[in-house]
Amino acid sequence: MARFDPHSWCDSDQPETESLDLELRVDFDSHTLAGEVKLQLRASSLSAHGGPLDLDTRELAIVSIDSTAGKKLPYSLEPLDPILGARLRIDLPAGVDGVRIRYRTSERASALGWLEPAQTASGQHPYLFSQCQAIHARSIVPLQDTPRRRVTFAARLDVPAELRSLMAARFVARQPGSAGRAIDHWQMPEPIPPYLLALAVGDVASRELSPRVRVWAEPAQLEAAAREFEAVESMIEAAERLFGSYDWERFDLLVMPPSFPYGGMENPRLTFLTPSLIAGDRSLVNVVAHELAHSWTGNLVSNATAEHFWLNEGFTVYAERRILEALEGRDVAELHAAVGRQALERALQRLAAQPQLTRLRTQLGGVDPDHAFSLIPYEKGYLLLRALEESEGRERWDAFLRQYMRRFRFCSITTEELTELIEAELPGALERVNARAYLHGEGLPPGAPAARSQRLAQLRALPPALPDAASGLTLSPLEWPLYLDHMPRPTSQETCAALDQRFQLSASHNTEILSAWLQLALESEYAPALPRAEAFLGEVGRMKYLRPLYRALARRPHTRERARALFARHRPGYHPIACHVIEQVLREAEAEVAGTP
Ligand code: BES
Ligand code: ZN
Repeated sequence: MARFDPHSWCDSDQPETESLDLELRVDFDSHTLAGEVKLQLRASSLSAHGGPLDLDTRELAIVSIDSTAGKKLPYSLEPLDPILGARLRIDLPAGVDGVRIRYRTSERASALGWLEPAQTASGQHPYLFSQCQAIHARSIVPLQDTPRRRVTFAARLDVPAELRSLMAARFVARQPGSAGRAIDHWQMPEPIPPYLLALAVGDVASRELSPRVRVWAEPAQLEAAAREFEAVESMIEAAERLFGSYDWERFDLLVMPPSFPYGGMENPRLTFLTPSLIAGDRSLVNVVAHELAHSWTGNLVSNATAEHFWLNEGFTVYAERRILEALEGRDVAELHAAVGRQALERALQRLAAQPQLTRLRTQLGGVDPDHAFSLIPYEKGYLLLRALEESEGRERWDAFLRQYMRRFRFCSITTEELTELIEAELPGALERVNARAYLHGEGLPPGAPAARSQRLAQLRALPPALPDAASGLTLSPLEWPLYLDHMPRPTSQETCAALDQRFQLSASHNTEILSAWLQLALESEYAPALPRAEAFLGEVGRMKYLRPLYRALARRPHTRERARALFARHRPGYHPIACHVIEQVLREAEAEVAGTP
């Protein structure tokens, strides 16, 4: 028995799943997926005398399990572990090289957001979408839910004929189904970690942006989405010049309903994006650069487990900023790095009581990855890679990056596999940047690289309340959050009032500016901003905004009750993952307050 991922029941001694064949009926009435999955096991991994096969499940109702040849197989479904879900153990007789599991998902499946028509832009049709990273794939399919077991798959989705299914996969064909239904066929020929399984079903339409890029959205949002993301093809070309050819055929985008819990999710061939990116000024397209960059760092080379999550996100933030630098110049990339650095400092402060979570290489046995989530792997990871670039010089470092991507293509790797390759190719480099302190040390090592640019120096010199209107100073959409996040907590009531009056921050349509402002206002107990904050919490489902705003409300005695009441009101509109995380945020904030004398 050898478990090699603290977040999976998968046992390294047992057979490996090679491919999945999924057949699911999407039922908007009962909020369930029902059908079957066939798991094809890799021949070379089978044992001559059979044995157990352990799969991950969460709240799945198992109907029956057979070998692919049709023989009933004995199995047991163990009690639910609150983090891992329930282990499903199947007894494989000798010679069985595949299993067929008939099952149904729970209406509470943690990966699935089921939206009523009223929660969509059109208000006409229901909508369904999945979010599997980190460990939610098991709530829609029984499988070896660890990135160490990459799989290819085929899928047939039976959906209402007036809706369209989309998957992070290659579309094969639509067939008529039974009355009023249709069956969409999908295929994923490249082996992916299970957290990249993704589907959506709704009333969506698409617009072609280039031969390999199409944007999907609800019809009412399609125009605006196509305008916002018009330049995506040039982004792919810039990324290809940096990291080598784009190997996933298509890079389509799906603009999600507002309850999507992330800014973006790098589902292969079909990136999912929050609708809040549509700011009208293309100022938030760095999120698209980020998800695109995952096509190399994350999807081609994947973290072996959530304990190596920084390999996905640190490399991707680094790659995102290289793409931005190529397209928009060094100053813009440096501004993004400065925003990241400020966010990192705040995350470090917040995690002062859990310093072990500030290491890049983490130990997460007994820890829910959704609760361990922070910007540390993103921004501290970025700084380590930037330190390596600065130490080795861009030319050598870029050659190394390309080699890293070639060497570990379609592999899931650990931090140790990365450091071995660096040591072999760039001997001494790890030592020169003190990589140990980043990987295994807490906090931020002294001498970590700092963003530098002329504009940044100007911004740093601004007084805490902006100079008066006569100075003619204007901040770009990216500079506003940088400025607001830098303001002291609390900031005086007068300054808050002056800022909002002069710059109409509460009325901003840019959610990055709005959320930075509302955070400052709540943390300064500036009551006039409260109604806007309360409304905003009902307009978005992105955890990046929900987390700090709920935390700010819950930590202050006179808004604590409001935080609870708001959560109760808005909860039906949030994704299950967001609900879970906000519950945790409220518990922590209240415990913190209770603990302070
Ligand atoms: N893969 C992540 C989102 C994620 C992380 C989902 C962990 C589930 C568990 C995605 O690529 C991401 O990092 N999104 C960021 C984008 C930002 C850093 C530009 C987001 O959602 O804010
Ligand atoms: Zn990412």
